[in-house]
Amino acid sequence: MEAIQPTPPTEELPRGTSPKLTRAAIEQIVASGKRLLVQGGMGIHASDGLSGKVAAAKSVHFVGVGTVSAVVKTEAMLRREIRRARAEAAGGYVGVNLMAAINRDDFARAARVSIEEGVSFIVQGAGISREILRWCKEGGVPFAGIVSSGRLAAMYEKWGADFLVAEGADAGGHIGDIDHPLPSLVEEVRAHSRLPVVAAGGVTAEDVGGFLAQGAAGVQLATRFIASKDGDTHAGFKEMHLGKTAEDVAIIISCVKGMKARAVRNAFTDALAAGQRFPPRSKAWFFGKEGYMGRKKACVECLAAELCKCRASNFQESFCITDALLKAAILGDKENGLFYTGQSITRIPEKDVAELKTVQELVDELDLELSRFVAIERERAESVIAAAI
Ligand SMILES: Cc1cc2nc3c(=O)[nH]c(=O)nc-3n(C[C@H](O)[C@H](O)[C@H](O)COP(=O)(O)O)c2cc1C
Repeated sequence: MEAIQPTPPTEELPRGTSPKLTRAAIEQIVASGKRLLVQGGMGIHASDGLSGKVAAAKSVHFVGVGTVSAVVKTEAMLRREIRRARAEAAGGYVGVNLMAAINRDDFARAARVSIEEGVSFIVQGAGISREILRWCKEGGVPFAGIVSSGRLAAMYEKWGADFLVAEGADAGGHIGDIDHPLPSLVEEVRAHSRLPVVAAGGVTAEDVGGFLAQGAAGVQLATRFIASKDGDTHAGFKEMHLGKTAEDVAIIISCVKGMKARAVRNAFTDALAAGQRFPPRSKAWFFGKEGYMGRKKACVECLAAELCKCRASNFQESFCITDALLKAAILGDKENGLFYTGQSITRIPEKDVAELKTVQELVDELDLELSRFVAIERERAESVIAAAI
């Protein structure tokens, strides 16, 4: 079968450079009265097609920021997605999300490509590599760290990061062992660091105002953008996010370091919970005969060797994450795919794919909700002053 390309062929788009999301740039945005609205990077291919749209969104209160996921993208795929997002972003901010737990060679290559492509920032999650900060500094690209504690925030500040994403317990995908509700995490991170902080994990339109009032420089949303008319994921992937309740959310043990991860409950997550294993299968249907970066075996060694429970057990335990995530995002296979999601899935109002909104419409909703919050706060402040006079 011929390889399926996740994005349209846009190699002909010129290499360019995006404005840099430095600490100073963020401080200037905040001083102007606006805040960041960041689209969280989602691997594998789950955020493709969204980044440029969020970066280009027009907003009263926010500056949109798109994040391209570098996970399991060939060099050509990554360049194409960055250039496509930049072309759509019309001068807006487009960064790259890099998971530190991936194959070390792929990690270094993705960082090099992102720096060569002049992205607005690189954000690192799922593990820590200090090297990336040096590469970013040498390449003139701002760096952001995803943090789940004040200690980590202070460390990243010392290492020269430009901003932080404080990711709380309700986030989607890998969540580690964090049990911090997001408001107290934001408070802790702000107490340990003076870097701008973006609040992430379970944020919906109604609670954006609260996080900004806490002093966050912005918010990061991922799950909400999945349920959008925009974005390349299969309609089945989007459909899996509609009409869900808390019972439809499962916490699985991922093959990535045995971390906890949040996903939509389905036959696959039930089978994992029952102890079934899912060794890797051929990925030629997706990557073509040449394989992923020339790796043609069923296991494309997507993760650092010691961090993959499946590979470390000689495929006797756990599951192949690339197979499972590709089945979800590319094929929309509701039984066999792994559909990472955030807890905010339960607050998505649309019930049918026909009702899905564009990214711009979702941003308009966030704007409206924040305007309401600002008006209520103003009224409250005025009544306090009136009572004091
Ligand atoms: C499908 C999916 C895939 C994700 N993949 C990644 C990833 O590859 N790297 C990462 O740092 N975070 C990843 N995340 C986390 C998001 O970037 C984001 O920070 C978090 O989900 C925000 O919470 P929300 O989804 O409730 O808005 C993923 C989230 C989802 C839902």
